Amino acid sequence: MASPLLSCIFLCFYLSTVHGAGEDSFVTVPSSSFEPESVCSGEFVKPEQNGSTVYVPLVHRHGPCAPAPSLSTDTRSFADIFRRSRARPSYIVRGKKVSVPAHLGTSVMSLEYVVRVSFGTPAVPQVVVIDTGSDVSWLQCKPCSSGQCFPQKDPLYDPSHSSTYSAVPCASDVCKKLAADAYGSGCTSGKQCGFAISYADGTSTVGAYSQDKLTLAPGAIVQNFYFGCGHGKHAVRGLFDGVLGLGRLRESLGARYGGVFSYCLPSVSSKPGFLALGAGKNPSGFVFTPMGTVPGQPTFSTVTLAGINVGGKKLDLRPSAFSGGMIVDSGTVITGLQSTAYRALRSAFRKAMEAYRLLPNGDLDTCYNLTGYKNVVVPKIALTFTGGATINLDVPNGILVNGCLAFAESGPDGSAGVLGNVNQRAFEVLFDTSTSKFGFRAKAC
Ligand SMILES: *[C@@H]1O[C@H](CO)[C@@H](O)[C@H](O)[C@H]1NC(C)=O
Ligand SMILES: *[C@@H]1O[C@H](CO)[C@@H](O)[C@H](O)[C@H]1NC(C)=O
Repeated sequence: MASPLLSCIFLCFYLSTVHGAGEDSFVTVPSSSFEPESVCSGEFVKPEQNGSTVYVPLVHRHGPCAPAPSLSTDTRSFADIFRRSRARPSYIVRGKKVSVPAHLGTSVMSLEYVVRVSFGTPAVPQVVVIDTGSDVSWLQCKPCSSGQCFPQKDPLYDPSHSSTYSAVPCASDVCKKLAADAYGSGCTSGKQCGFAISYADGTSTVGAYSQDKLTLAPGAIVQNFYFGCGHGKHAVRGLFDGVLGLGRLRESLGARYGGVFSYCLPSVSSKPGFLALGAGKNPSGFVFTPMGTVPGQPTFSTVTLAGINVGGKKLDLRPSAFSGGMIVDSGTVITGLQSTAYRALRSAFRKAMEAYRLLPNGDLDTCYNLTGYKNVVVPKIALTFTGGATINLDVPNGILVNGCLAFAESGPDGSAGVLGNVNQRAFEVLFDTSTSKFGFRAKAC
């Protein structure tokens, strides 16, 4: 006869095996939370300058919050987005061995988060994607002969109609620095400074390096903002008007705010997030970790992991598993982990999700068929960084994307990994290059 104590021993053992460190290490989510919402809901930040910080609403360019209806008609498959996004981490990792700077290797089509800002006088609104993986901002500009520019919803910015526009002269320091940062393309029309950006997926843009007034929010104006005016050779086929570069180099918009900015990428595309330039004055609610860089790749900022927890259990990994650091990138979708760390994470995650059908041919190697379940029990994943800062990824949208674990193997141990944008969802991620630290604030949008 089983005594109550004995049953408890068996039952409690069983429960602790199934649920690891306890019930709060798993979250039960209704399977409807995996379906995209068709209506934009949630509160937009007011575009404004508050103290030294400028707030700009940010949205996913394919979701119902996108500023122009045409922006949500781009119906690419997840596999396509992933394949393009993949070009970033693999190029970044190989970047150490190739002579081209890695910022030239990023994939522009995987960029997903847009803000609406205005260029020139009078101010012309343009929808631009934010990119921490490149430095030079650019717009499609008039004149653009047919077939050279991709279709965009907003009117093309026309420099000849802006009273504050000027082209950057070839002989200027600004142009020499652009060339030194590998974004130059010689001189156009004899005396104008040319810029060129090419991305790993074969897309590129070229044109005149320019300056004009950039209006981020009412009253928040960047005078003499440098950006590329793309007049042609746009192999980019996307439904946005340009790119806002937020890398570490002097060409970046971030550099105009002392290298301090933050953003919150919403957990789902039916909610808004924000971009905050010159943020970081109010550190409450943030956890901080030191910011590093990748040798020879001056665009990127990195964090270093110290540990990973899955379903409340710490993975058995030495610090050397994380020694390559991780580039924090707004434009890479899937997080890339070094080989040993990724395999340990995958094995723990699969074990925690063993009740669900693993798809043999998913877009990634750990994808589930979750159709037919009313609820799905998802293990929490916590990332601990150097110094002890720990972030609990949003459940399920910071962990699963299209039914797949939002992590992949990026390369061998010791190489640089990437912290992708799915993991960053719902956190305010603060880049503070002035004091070399990253901050993370949970449930910020
Ligand atoms: C703007 O700043 C004021 C005073 O510092 C603060 O009370 C308010 O909440 C801020 N607004 C936003 C949107 O952060
Ligand atoms: C997922 O499961 C459902 C229900 O069992 C099935 O009908 C469907 O074909 C499966 N999908 C894939 C991609 O395996």
